[in-house]
Amino acid sequence: MFATASGLEGVVVAQTALSDVNGQSGRLVIRGHHVECLVTKAAFEDAFGLMWSGWMPSVTEREALREALARARERAFGLLPSLGGVLDAPAAMDALRGALARLWTAGDTYEDGVLLTGAIPVIAAAWHRARMGLPAIAPDVKLSHAADFLYMLSGAVPHRARVDGLDAYLCCVVDHGLNASTFVARTVASTGSDTVSAVVAAIGALKGPLHGGAPGPVLDMLDSIGTPDRVRSWLEAELAAGRRIMGMGHRIYRVRDPRAAALERAAAILERSAANTDRLLLARAVEREAERLLAERHPERNLRANVEFYTAVLLEAVGIPRTLFSATFAASRVVGWCAHIHEQRFVGRLIRPASRYVGTAPRGGGPC
Ligand code: COA
Repeated sequence: MFATASGLEGVVVAQTALSDVNGQSGRLVIRGHHVECLVTKAAFEDAFGLMWSGWMPSVTEREALREALARARERAFGLLPSLGGVLDAPAAMDALRGALARLWTAGDTYEDGVLLTGAIPVIAAAWHRARMGLPAIAPDVKLSHAADFLYMLSGAVPHRARVDGLDAYLCCVVDHGLNASTFVARTVASTGSDTVSAVVAAIGALKGPLHGGAPGPVLDMLDSIGTPDRVRSWLEAELAAGRRIMGMGHRIYRVRDPRAAALERAAAILERSAANTDRLLLARAVEREAERLLAERHPERNLRANVEFYTAVLLEAVGIPRTLFSATFAASRVVGWCAHIHEQRFVGRLIRPASRYVGTAPRGGGPC
């Protein structure tokens, strides 16, 4: 009757003009731009404009976007007092899920996308500060989106190199084909539901350790390994215990994830500016050894570093607390989600796959 693909691998369920992932050659194109070029040349506002309109914003358009996102952050900050205990959630992603669920959008407009994109860094920063017993810091509308996120975490205007590092990250992960959270967002949108519902559902998918929850554990792994001489024994023990090495392997890529290379370069630039490359050197040693050990165990899979591996190193160097890594991922991917939701609405067809029943057959012949 129907073919079975338990993880839906290789099954095409949507056409998109937003991004193209080629897992064999290790290529990621976002709206006609190679991800490597976006990471080195663009700021988050550019990636936002590109995703929505399909072209790189002009200087005037970029300024308008910067202004719109700043206003959206301001508006989200004004909503913080109405969130009640949402910011007491144990994890930032739970706080995001709860806080965004209190927003309301009428449809799938550009304004909805701006509102949601502006809200995420405000909620993430407020959650982080609440955990430290500190009051939330109001956004500074003069700053770019990336700079303001860092500012709202500490109250200090961040150094240019850190802002560039965060912009590189946000541009890198803005969209990635039909990943799990984007699929969820499109599925919710296909039912005719609203944008906030689709984004809240996507956050639930992104939170999982097999998707966007991996970079925190990558950093835990680097901490636990400590020094390059312990890399091999640590990884061997982990694999012998049947655990997965975080930041390695990918459903689509059969070569190194191109985003890993882009983020590794961004981390190298940032670490050089801070004159401390120890973390990067350790990460590279772990990647080399993990690749070797995984190739011995799964020679057919070519398990290589994925985006989360160097996300951990870059975001740590940028100064984002590891408890906010997944929320920072959401701060960028929300743009991809909203663009996909918008695209899905034009398709107008309910996403409804089939399942194969393997339960018990009813007793007797016909219906009761
Ligand atoms: N560490 C150890 N073993 C791994 C592994 C890893 N990081 N990734 C895959 N494998 C193993 C699997 O256990 C499986 O082994 P089995 O056949 O003996 O059960 C085999 O390799 C094939 O796995 P594959 O089909 O390639 O994985 P997948 O497509 O189901 O999963 C991931 C892809 C990303 C979920 C998986 O690689 C993973 O869990 N990575 C770690 C988490 C992570 O970094 N997530 C972020 C993704 S961007």
